[in-house]
Amino acid sequence: MKICMIGTGYVGLTTGTVLTELGHEVFCVDKDKDKISRLNKGEVPIHEPGLSELIIKNKQRNNLHFTSDVHKAIKECSILFITVGTPPNEDGSQNLIALDEVVETLAQTITAHKTIIMKSTVLPGTNESVQETLIKRGINHGLFDIVSNPEFLREGYAVFDMMNPDRIVIGSHSEKSIKLVKSLYRKLDAPYVVTSLTGAEMIKYASNAFLATKISFINEIARICDAFDVEITDVVSGLATDKRISPHFLKAGLGYGGSCFSKDLRALEYTARQKNIITDILISVQKVNDTQTDLYIKKLIEKLYDLSDKKITVWGLSFKPDTDDIRDSRSLHLIDKLIEKGANVYAYDPIVHLPSSKITCHQDIYESIKGSDALILATEWSEFQKVNWIKVKDSMEGSVIVDGRNVIDPVIVKKHGFHYIGVARP
Ligand code: UDX
Repeated sequence: MKICMIGTGYVGLTTGTVLTELGHEVFCVDKDKDKISRLNKGEVPIHEPGLSELIIKNKQRNNLHFTSDVHKAIKECSILFITVGTPPNEDGSQNLIALDEVVETLAQTITAHKTIIMKSTVLPGTNESVQETLIKRGINHGLFDIVSNPEFLREGYAVFDMMNPDRIVIGSHSEKSIKLVKSLYRKLDAPYVVTSLTGAEMIKYASNAFLATKISFINEIARICDAFDVEITDVVSGLATDKRISPHFLKAGLGYGGSCFSKDLRALEYTARQKNIITDILISVQKVNDTQTDLYIKKLIEKLYDLSDKKITVWGLSFKPDTDDIRDSRSLHLIDKLIEKGANVYAYDPIVHLPSSKITCHQDIYESIKGSDALILATEWSEFQKVNWIKVKDSMEGSVIVDGRNVIDPVIVKKHGFHYIGVARP
């Protein structure tokens, strides 16, 4: 099938590329001409394991095309995916400028039947309103069908998740479109959840809200464990064996970051408020997350007394390992707070290099800890578990390690004379 992917960001590029692997021909469109020309030269703008290889392979097979000519691509394909960004506004609502522009382009271009598949994360009611807009703009009802087909891709595992989904959600009023979407994904082995347009939008938000809730829940439990000198990993093992709970998303740490959880929770809270619903749980989930870095700065101050003019090294800048994405990274929140307290911050990340005048970013892990009073591990890159702790100890001035992701073995570092602070790890 010929597919047009409108928006070649993280979701569009990954979805489009994997669809070529599933045997389709995909035209990835973006108005950023520079990005398109780089992609046409084989330069991939994001760090996502396995993606570059698939892009190069399918470009060579002539299955995958990159273009800025949206009108031509829409004309050429009968299946159109919308994969544009829906960033947050100040008040938590969604900025729909990019989506409105796409709808306007569709209104100007559609002359033959199109199945329009929404992958962008949009608030409940948005797909219905896109449908109404197209009709108001003069596109005959029979000329298009809208399907809501949200993505559940984790950065760093996006190709794997796209190939091995836990479920495929299809929101649509049209039997024909439901069949068509199922045939698009026929090579994938996953159950389908078929619902209304708005039902699919709600599934996406409820999923992210639930995952974020699990993280804030375990971080709150970790706070209590800490007060009683209880090891959080033991408590999680006890929870994980209960099938009703599942072991996933129960890693205590500095909290969740990334482009989705905070944004989606705020948007859901906003949209509920519009309907006079107060979302106490969603508000608390965000509150726990927002205060988690303060808690560990407080623990650091208890050890160093004062952070002013102290040299603090932070390992990990991306919001999680295996990505170069720093959006809403807990590490950057932590760094801002350390700077506020007068600390001199040095940082190291395996792939992110921040050109910032506020911190000193090193490209060598051991250089980054020379003369440091304390080390904070903010992102659990696997590289950090393989470091030579003797070398680290010899280079540091102080001996405090804050393991914000509970990935260092406390027994080993304590043996080397470190003072270890983990997340509820007495
Ligand atoms: C998330 C959802 O998982 C995905 O389904 C959705 O489509 C997009 O948002 P992503 O943002 O890529 O994906 O990252 P994810 O792996 O979910 O982690 C989000 C944050 O939560 C990270 O900062 C991570 O460190 C943190 N996290 C995750 C925890 O603190 N504890 C956990 O147990 C799991």
